[in-house]
Amino acid sequence: MSWVPVWLVCLTAIGRQKLSELDLENQIVAAEAYEQLHVPALFQQWTKQVLDAVTVRPGDRVLDVACGTGVLARDAAKRVGEKGLVAGLDPGPGMLVVAERHAPTVEWRQGAAESLPYADQSFDAVVSQFGLMFFADRRQALCEMLRVLVPGGRLAVAVWDSIENSPAYPDEVALLQRIAGQRAADALRAPFILGDRTALAALFESAGLPSVAITTLKGRARFPSIKAMVEADLRGWLPVMGVELAEDQIQHILAEAQSALGRYVTAKGQLEFDAPAHVIVGTKP
Ligand SMILES: C[S@@+](CC[C@H](N)C(=O)[O-])C[C@H]1O[C@@H](n2cnc3c(N)ncnc32)[C@H](O)[C@@H]1O
Repeated sequence: MSWVPVWLVCLTAIGRQKLSELDLENQIVAAEAYEQLHVPALFQQWTKQVLDAVTVRPGDRVLDVACGTGVLARDAAKRVGEKGLVAGLDPGPGMLVVAERHAPTVEWRQGAAESLPYADQSFDAVVSQFGLMFFADRRQALCEMLRVLVPGGRLAVAVWDSIENSPAYPDEVALLQRIAGQRAADALRAPFILGDRTALAALFESAGLPSVAITTLKGRARFPSIKAMVEADLRGWLPVMGVELAEDQIQHILAEAQSALGRYVTAKGQLEFDAPAHVIVGTKP
């Protein structure tokens, strides 16, 4: 979160409103950066696999949990057509403002996966990509996803493989740890904490899905440059995780990243490396 001076904390009702507007504006800026930088480099490539995994068809009702700026929901909307329905849920108001700008016909809603604001059995398919690791109560969130599915409804959840199988990120985490400290490094480690397939299977079993299929798929991160990737993380991702760095720290990290990540630069000057993910698929009994 942004640093807020003491006088601004001593607020009148009007001042309180101004503060929340300020916070929302910061969140929208971070979400736009996420949409412009991270989505094409990392997330867009997974929507086909996730939607194929639950065979989304015309007319289906589909829920995207932890929709972020809505890349998966947008592609689901193309598949279900006018007779179908797509809903996207995320706790981040900035994410939802950007999602709405890109796809006004999707039913965006603010909320948490652990307490889905939808009736029982209201969706044919529930999908969620790269959100499960951030849920405070993952088992409860999966139970909620099953609750809102019709019997026989399909569930697909994508999570990143472990950080050891995701080159470049261990290097960037080490750089953040050295220059910006533990909180910043942990914010970048967080996406990779569900890499263990055995633990994943146990998690889904505990939520009532004993026989999920877990497939590990190759992905590829493609950023236009080292600067683009590191800026995406520092300006787009860390603020989403509640970590805002000072501009001089950002410049310091960007300068050192040139050598720390140099080995991942291709002959064309792009930054590329493997980014594998697990896709977990189940059917509601
Ligand atoms: C890495 S982003 C993925 C967004 C999107 N699915 C995509 O593919 O671009 C993770 C998202 O999880 C959301 N999130 C965090 N905690 C959540 C919770 N308890 N319930 C639902 N979403 C949550 C965040 O707000 C963020 O938008």
